Amino acid sequence: MDLSTNYLGLNLKNPFIVGSSGLSSDIANLKEMEKYGAGAIVLKSLFEEDILMEMKENLNQMSRPANIYPEIFDAFDFSTIEDSVSKYLFLIEEAKKSLSTPIIASVNCIDSNEWTSFAKRIQDASADALELNIFITPTDMERTSAETEQIYFDIIEKVKKEINIPISVKISYFFTNLANTVQRLSQSGVAGIVLFNKFYQSDVNIDNLSIVPAPLFSSPSDLYQTMRWIAITSSSAACDLAASTGAHDAKSFIKLLLTGAKAVQFTSTLYTRGIPYIATILDDLKNWMEKHSFNSIKEFNGKLSADKNKDQGAFLRVQFMKHYSEKN
Ligand SMILES: Cc1cc2nc3c(=O)[nH]c(=O)nc-3n(C[C@H](O)[C@H](O)[C@H](O)COP(=O)(O)O)c2cc1C
Repeated sequence: MDLSTNYLGLNLKNPFIVGSSGLSSDIANLKEMEKYGAGAIVLKSLFEEDILMEMKENLNQMSRPANIYPEIFDAFDFSTIEDSVSKYLFLIEEAKKSLSTPIIASVNCIDSNEWTSFAKRIQDASADALELNIFITPTDMERTSAETEQIYFDIIEKVKKEINIPISVKISYFFTNLANTVQRLSQSGVAGIVLFNKFYQSDVNIDNLSIVPAPLFSSPSDLYQTMRWIAITSSSAACDLAASTGAHDAKSFIKLLLTGAKAVQFTSTLYTRGIPYIATILDDLKNWMEKHSFNSIKEFNGKLSADKNKDQGAFLRVQFMKHYSEKN
């Protein structure tokens, strides 16, 4: 049975991708993920702020003015500094030395400033691809949605100038016209788009009237939002789409592949069920394929995307129709 797929131009032995999180910031975990069959691994994100802080520190050490040409940063030897940035580069190098699974680095960014020159360091450390986790919280009352969206394209353009490894962009669903944005992003030169990121949220403790963290992990019902947009955008996107948020088991994996995801990222379920659960999901996928006489992922990938589905309106319908409410 052939589970292989091609994502971002990388040959993956299967479409199971470990999503970016603290779990993928440790070499022992990465080895375990490979052992249990992960097709690719996205490392924990390095934050733009960390990169900029490091750049500043290095500039201070060199007694240079803070506002300096980005190419100067190429001269820095980040690997000699014990900090989050050099640790990150070291993690990529170590992962590439000890694993054969493709390693996707990740940067969390909000701006197309000097940090983009650092992308070259990630490529030099041998990452197979770079996932840009971009989110600009739309709270600026002066900035239009078009201006906010333009930042995504500016970041992609600048990073593309720095590196030639594949780039993917991980986005949220907070866009005025998500389908249009996904379409335009897919034509911007990225090799893939990840739908969607899940954000850290806050909650209120009504006993002691304080702000506390909301539950960290996604819930299986989050799948429906992800699946809807994978189904709507997958057949027209000019690049690969990976699904993220709400995939907790083989059933959700299969649903996302059927609606057109080239690969699926899993995070919460690895926290709650453990890394060995990767093998269970892959076994369950194989059993399902056998039951349905599919010999390869290609045979069913995208079979139920919105345009191919018999009920083409199914994923577009959002309001509860009368007959539903009468039944319930
Ligand atoms: C503890 C934790 C840490 C995360 N850290 C990152 C991160 O550094 N970068 C990133 O792009 N996403 C991060 N995420 C988001 C996940 O990659 C993923 O998009 C999200 O959890 C939804 O997928 P899931 O439903 O499989 O959990 C994190 C998620 C969790 C739960």
